[in-house]
Amino acid sequence: MRPAPGASPLAGRRVLLIVGGGIAAVKAPDLIRRLRERGASVRCVLTRAGHEFTTPLALSSLSEDRVFTDLFDLTDESEMGHIQLSRQADIVLVAPATASLMGRMASGQAPDLAATLLLATDKPVMIAPAMNVRMWLHPATQRNLATLRGDGVLVVGPNEGDMACGEFGPGRMAEPLEIIAALEAHFGPRPLQGLRALVTSGPTHEPIDPVRYIANRSSGKQGHAIAAALAQAGAEVVLVSGPTHQPDPAGVAVVRVETARQMLAACEAALPADIAICAAAVADWRVAKEAGEKLKKERESGPPSMTFAENPDILATLSSLKQGRPGLVIGFAAETEKVVEHAIAKRKRKGCDWIVANDVSPATGTFGGDNNSVTLISDSAPESWPPLSKTEVAERLVQRIAANIAGPAVRKGETA
Ligand code: CTP
Repeated sequence: MRPAPGASPLAGRRVLLIVGGGIAAVKAPDLIRRLRERGASVRCVLTRAGHEFTTPLALSSLSEDRVFTDLFDLTDESEMGHIQLSRQADIVLVAPATASLMGRMASGQAPDLAATLLLATDKPVMIAPAMNVRMWLHPATQRNLATLRGDGVLVVGPNEGDMACGEFGPGRMAEPLEIIAALEAHFGPRPLQGLRALVTSGPTHEPIDPVRYIANRSSGKQGHAIAAALAQAGAEVVLVSGPTHQPDPAGVAVVRVETARQMLAACEAALPADIAICAAAVADWRVAKEAGEKLKKERESGPPSMTFAENPDILATLSSLKQGRPGLVIGFAAETEKVVEHAIAKRKRKGCDWIVANDVSPATGTFGGDNNSVTLISDSAPESWPPLSKTEVAERLVQRIAANIAGPAVRKGETA
C-alpha cells in the first residue's frame, strides 16, 4: 500500500514483531505504540524467554491483536499456519534480537516458533540486537552477524552505553525511534538511488613507534550514521573508516584504515563518487620519522623529541580534484570557539561545497556522545539546526542532499 503524501512510509504496513528474551523486551510496548501511531499494524510473537521481561497481555493490549507464543501455537496449524504467519507481513522485525536467536537464525535452526517463522518467511527481516557487551563482541556473535548481513538481514544498532548488566559498551538495543527510522528508511522513497557516495569517519591513528600512536577522541558515530542514512536513501556507499568501535552500517562497503595517508589512498581508490562527505577527525600531523623499534624509556638523551610532518588534507584534496571531483563535497568543522566564523573560513580554505560546523568543546559532549548541535554552512546564510541525535543529523543532512541536488546534475559535477 502506498502511504498518503506526508504520511509515514509505515502507514498501512504490516509488521510481524518477534520479541526475544532480553531486558530490552521492556521497550517492545513503546515500539508497538510508535509503530501504530504511524499507521502500521503490528502482530507480535513472544519467545519463551521474552515472557520473562514482558507479557503477552501487554503486547496484545497495544497491538490490539492476539500474541503468538511457543506455548500455544506450535501445534495450532488449524488457526494460523506458521508459513502463513511468517508471510502475512511486509517485514519481520526482531526486537530485541538476542545472541541466541541470532545464532539460530544464522545456522538455520528452527526449534521454536520465532526461529521457525524466520526460516519460513519470504519477507525482509530486520533485527535490533541487544545483549551483554561481551556477548556482542564475541567472535561467534560477530560471525553470526556477518552471516545474517550476507543473507540480506537488515540490522539496526546496537548502541553503545551503560547496560542493564552494569557494563559499558556496544550491545544496548537501538531506541524505538531509531528502529522506526530504519523501518521508515526501508519503506520510504530512495531519493539517492543510483548515486555513489564516499564517507570518511572516525579518528586516524598516527604511529610513533610499533606500539604507540597519536589519536583523537572521535568515535565515528556521526560519520557512520551518515553512511547509514545515505545507504538507506538508496546511495551506493563506501565508508572509509579510521579505528572505531562502531558496527558496520547495513548495506555499506567499509574500508578500514589507520593513518591519514591510508585514508586518502582509500578515498582515491573509491572514486568516482557523486557525493563525498568527510566526517573523519583526521590527524593534521604525523610523526615525521616513525621509529622502527619501540622507543625505550631509559635513554641517554632523555625523553624523545618528535618532529611532525603535515598530513594530506583529504577534504581539500577531493575538493580540488581537476578531474572526477565529486559533484557535492561536504566537510565538517570541529571547532571549540567562534564556531560559525571559523567554519565559514574553513569552507573557503578547503574548497568544499558545504561545511557542517559543530562545537566540540568538552562541555558539549559532542566527541564520543550521541548528540550534536550543528550549523550548516553553504552558499546561503548559515543554518543552525536544533540539538539532534547524530542519527537525526545524518538523516537531515541526507534529506538536504536529496532536496538540493538532482541525480543527473551531481553526476556532471554540478551542485544545484
Ligand atoms: N580533514 C581532512 N583531512 C585532514 C584534516 C581534516 O579531510 N588532514 C577534513 C575533516 O574530515 C573535516 C574538515 O577537514 O571534514 C575539517 O576538519 P577540522 O579538524 O575541523 O579542521 P582542520 O583542517 O584540522 O583545521 P583546524 O585544525 O585548523 O581546525
